[in-house]
Amino acid sequence: MQPIISVAGVGKTYAGGFTALKSVDLDIHSGEIFALLGPNGAGKTTLISIICGIVNATSGRVTADGNDIQQDFRAARSKIGLVPQELSTDSFESVWNTVSFSRGLFGKAPNPQHIEKILRQLSLWDKKDSKIMALSGGMKRRVMIAKALSHEPSILFLDEPTAGVDVELRRDMWEMVRGLRENGVTIILTTHYIEEAEEMADRIGVINHGELVLVEEKHELMQKLGKKQLTIHLQNQISELPEELKKFDLDIADEGNQLIYTFDTQREHTGIATLLRALNQQGMEFKDLHSSESSLEEIFVSLVHQSQDERQTAG
Ligand SMILES: Nc1ncnc2c1ncn2[C@@H]1O[C@H](COP(=O)(O)OP(=O)(O)O)[C@@H](O)[C@H]1O
Ligand SMILES: [Mg+2]
Repeated sequence: MQPIISVAGVGKTYAGGFTALKSVDLDIHSGEIFALLGPNGAGKTTLISIICGIVNATSGRVTADGNDIQQDFRAARSKIGLVPQELSTDSFESVWNTVSFSRGLFGKAPNPQHIEKILRQLSLWDKKDSKIMALSGGMKRRVMIAKALSHEPSILFLDEPTAGVDVELRRDMWEMVRGLRENGVTIILTTHYIEEAEEMADRIGVINHGELVLVEEKHELMQKLGKKQLTIHLQNQISELPEELKKFDLDIADEGNQLIYTFDTQREHTGIATLLRALNQQGMEFKDLHSSESSLEEIFVSLVHQSQDERQTAG
């Protein structure tokens, strides 16, 4: 299937000479929730600003639903809704007028039914006559989303939708984003919260220092890069590791009542059988065994460190 967004060889060097993006290639599939995950300053806002045609790329090409973002700006932009990172919400206007006006900016004929539909969907209907200034922070964010959806785009960008938002509101926001996807909207969100990517995304792209270091299905990512840990609950407490067990990647935990064995899920041989045999030979009995997968958090931290290490070796 043709990607709904295609980013090919996109680089950005700002006027001051700083290179914020190297050469980014990325395809977004129709109907997915894609999370662009990376630390502050990684280039997330730069990348989505280029895709939305707000910032010009230094190199490369972007198409949205087949339209070139530079050559066919209006056609491409009409497919896209953007909720920017910085919210501009000091308005005396009502919710209804603000959202209706946004639609007009895209040259679309008024469509009160559509405006009503999105206000209802975002639980803003009973606030339609309120002035934006009078709304709570969470409601203001919803208005920004309603504005971005006012011209019926099929692709919605959310730049750090939950930065600085409390936990409850964050859950609300996630609920809402899922609801939008069910209505057929493709969603690209940026975040520096691993939890958010883990919770929301179908696919995750990790960006660091202007480079997309990885793009993967969330589940595959967690499986492929994940290390597993096997926790062995010992029958008898130990104070140190017997010499014969030192060749295994083992840590003593729970005051010597547990051994934790870390292994790579990608390797053909996990080494568990050998380890259990060695324990047996040492006369170490165990009460229980259980294994756990490492979280996306650990994967992310190790990826970001890895690319930093590579940079240091390169420079
Ligand atoms: N207009 C600009 N001029 C110069 N540098 C910029 C500009 N905008 C962003 N940058 C720099 O580019 C890098 C990436 O910024 P940004 O895309 O905002 O990252 P993120 O959204 O991931 O936090 C940062 O180092 C930032 O300081
Ligand atoms: Mg940003």
